[in-house]
Amino acid sequence: MRRRRLAGFAAALVVLACWPAAALAAPFWPVSGQTLQARSISWLFWLVMAIAGLFLLVVLGTLLYVIVAFRGREGQPDPRPVYGHLRLEMWWAGIPFAILVAVFIFTVREVGVETAIAPDALPITLIGHQWWWEFQYPGAVSANELHVPVGRQVRLQLLSADVVHNFWVPELAGKEQMVPGQTNLWTFTPEQPGRYDGACAEYCGTQHGWMRLTVFADAPADFDRWLAGQGQPVSQQVLSQHQDALRLYTANACGACHAISGVSNGKAAPDLTHLGSRSTIGAGVLQNTPDNLAAWIQDAQQFKPGSYMPKFRLSDADARQLAAFLEDLR
Ligand code: CUA
Repeated sequence: MRRRRLAGFAAALVVLACWPAAALAAPFWPVSGQTLQARSISWLFWLVMAIAGLFLLVVLGTLLYVIVAFRGREGQPDPRPVYGHLRLEMWWAGIPFAILVAVFIFTVREVGVETAIAPDALPITLIGHQWWWEFQYPGAVSANELHVPVGRQVRLQLLSADVVHNFWVPELAGKEQMVPGQTNLWTFTPEQPGRYDGACAEYCGTQHGWMRLTVFADAPADFDRWLAGQGQPVSQQVLSQHQDALRLYTANACGACHAISGVSNGKAAPDLTHLGSRSTIGAGVLQNTPDNLAAWIQDAQQFKPGSYMPKFRLSDADARQLAAFLEDLR
């Protein structure tokens, strides 16, 4: 019995020790803010962590001391119970209260650290879907990979097409709700070029876990080039090269859900006009390679069970042909 209890205690210690290590290794750890908001969130995070850590040490230290120093001894009578100790109670209510007030003041100070909208702010509408992201730029539509220019304020309008989602890119911004029937605004100014991982941070159904997004902060000239490219329809040359694939696309009613500029205008699923220029498919579930895309088209359920992309009975050759066409949409 005693040994089993000791084993349980050791297991609990191991879990406790692993938890911070696992959290540190996770990609969504709010410690390296790359924008004004993200830095203010990191700062708050460390402030609260420091206070909590200090109290953890004080409380655990006191507890250990009391356990050892006042342990029961043979033949000793029970200690006299204490009922009510006003001064002590005032301390242990007063100190947490003062800490909460201080944290509250710091939090309020950091909320809305960047609310003024710059005259040249770039407006982008983000729409959350089960389980992918739609991005509407002036003159272009994209999905799951958000490009933003470095040094220019980005003004996000956050919407949802179905249930509540939550936009979260820890290194760039805090969490912001995406609520059906409501428009939430969020602004941030990317400072460093790079690639930033994000995810949906509100449980929104079966595939909430694969509602990932990637933000690419591009140099302004690169961003302008990218945006101009995304605004282009599919070239006639690509269409005429892939006549057979286009027939498969139509025969399988892909266009009922997906849009390809000049070919179909489905709205229920990601726009594919420039699918070939994205690095992942299925909102992050697979790398965007011709083989992965062909496998995804045949049986998306295998990779993302419960998603709205049905299983298609396509031969390997047909799936590859369709994938080759989609990969040429750059
Ligand atoms: Cu969308 Cu969770």
